[in-house]
Amino acid sequence: MSAVRVAELADLEPGTARRVEVDGVGVALVRLGDDVYAIGDRCSHADVSLSGGDVDEDECTLECPKHGSAFDLRTGEPQSLPALRPVPTWAVTVRDGQIYLEET
Ligand code: FES
Repeated sequence: MSAVRVAELADLEPGTARRVEVDGVGVALVRLGDDVYAIGDRCSHADVSLSGGDVDEDECTLECPKHGSAFDLRTGEPQSLPALRPVPTWAVTVRDGQIYLEET
């Protein structure tokens, strides 16, 4: 898959998550400073949108709003129960203020 443009950097509020779709798949975008992370928006524990959860900037995680599993934004791995399986991640490139995703 080639890189897909999904959003403008200026539209992402730092420290919050925003849902976008890539080929019909929900992706949670999170901006921390100048870095942008992209993980699957669907919690691996149940069908819940992770982009409705809280970002922990120090831990670099996004917390599921339903039961509180925190997913590492770099790896997609859950850092706490009850989720056991990772969510997918995408490689993020920011070029000329535009955010591009590529499957990892
Ligand atoms: S639905 Fe996300 S931790 Fe349960």
